[in-house]
Amino acid sequence: MATTDAPAIRLDGLVKDYPTQDGGTFRAVRDLSLSIEEGAFYGLLGPNGAGKSTTIHILTGLARRTSGVAEVRGLDVSRDFRKVRRMMGLAAQEFAFDQFLAIEEVLMYAGMYFEMSRGQAKRRARELLERFELAHKRKERVQNLSGGQKRRLLIAKSLMHDPDILILDEPTAGIDVALRRDLWSYLREQNRAGKTILLTTHYIEEAEALCDQVGIIDQGRLVAEGTPAELVESGSGDRVIVGLKEPCREDPERLAAETGFQVAILDDGLSLVARGGRGGEMAGALMETLQRHAIRVDGLEIKRQSLEEAFVRATGAEIAPDGTIVRRDAAQDRGVNV
Ligand SMILES: Nc1ncnc2c1ncn2[C@@H]1O[C@H](COP(=O)(O)OP(=O)(O)OP(=O)(O)O)[C@@H](O)[C@H]1O
Ligand SMILES: [Mg+2]
Repeated sequence: MATTDAPAIRLDGLVKDYPTQDGGTFRAVRDLSLSIEEGAFYGLLGPNGAGKSTTIHILTGLARRTSGVAEVRGLDVSRDFRKVRRMMGLAAQEFAFDQFLAIEEVLMYAGMYFEMSRGQAKRRARELLERFELAHKRKERVQNLSGGQKRRLLIAKSLMHDPDILILDEPTAGIDVALRRDLWSYLREQNRAGKTILLTTHYIEEAEALCDQVGIIDQGRLVAEGTPAELVESGSGDRVIVGLKEPCREDPERLAAETGFQVAILDDGLSLVARGGRGGEMAGALMETLQRHAIRVDGLEIKRQSLEEAFVRATGAEIAPDGTIVRRDAAQDRGVNV
C-alpha cells in the first residue's frame, strides 16, 4: 500500500545477480539499502561498474532484481509497475531512440505513451525543445543529432509527462561546459519546484553542486552516505603544503609541537605538509614557526578537504601525505563469484 509518509524511493537489501558467460553469476548490486525523501536531490556517485545503472534499471523496470525491496512511494516497482512508471521520468545512460523519427515525434510518442493527447504532447514537446535549445532541429532525425544534442533530447523525453520523480543516469555525459551549467540550473529549478531527483554521476563537482544527499557506491555496495558537507567533514581535513628553499633539518615532532598541528617533512626536506586543522590557521602557524627557525619558504598551498577525497576514501583508495592518490588494487576483491 502507498502511504503518504513513504519515501519517494526506498531500497532495502537490494541484490542483483547477472548470469555470466561461463554459467556463473556476477553480483552487480549487493545488499543495497537507501531511502530518498520526497523533494530530495539525491546523487549516486561511483566509479565505472559500481552498479549505478543497474540500480536505476531495477527502479524503472528495465531490469529485474534478484532479491530485496525496491519501492517508489511505498509501491513495489514490479507489482505496481504501471503506476510507478508514471510517477517517474527516466533519462537512461544509453541512447535508445528510433533513429529514423524526427525528434519532435520522439517526444510526442513519449507523451502519448503516458496518455497525453496529440495536441498536449505537441505543445509540451515544443516547450521542451525550446528549453533544451533543440527547437531548430525539431524536424531532424535523431541519427542526425550530435552526442550532446541526443543527451538533451533524452532528458527532454524524460520530462514529457511532467513526472514527480526524475531519474537521470549520467545526464551531463557528453554535454559541453556551458550547457552543463544551464542544465544544472534547470535541474535545481525543477527540484525547487518540488520534483524529487535521483541522478548518477562521475563528476564529483556535479554531485557537490546539485545534491543535498549523496550516496557513494562501489562494487555494488553503498559505502558512504550523507550531505556533501557531512562527507567532506568525515575526512582528514585540510592540508597545507609549504615548499622550502633549502632542505629542512628540523625534527617534525618539534615543528608539530610548536605549530599545534601534525607536520610531515617530504621531498628530502624540501616540503612540509601540515594537517589536523583549518587551512588558514595551519598556514599562519607554520609560517610563524618557520620564520622563527629562519627556514626560507618558497611557496605555500592550502588544499581544502573535498568531496573528492571523501569519494576516494570511501571507494578504498588512500591519500598519501603529499596528496597523491594511492589506489588499492580493486580487482582483488571484485568478487566475481557470489
Ligand atoms: N546485462 C548485464 N549482464 C551482465 N552483467 C552486467 C549487465 N549489466 C551490467 N552488468 C555488470 O554489472 C556491473 C555494474 O554495471 P552498471 O552498469 O550498473 O555500472 P555503473 O555504475 O552504471 O557504471 P558506469 O559508471 O560505467 O555507467 C558491471 O560490472 C557490469 O559489467
Ligand atoms: Mg552506468
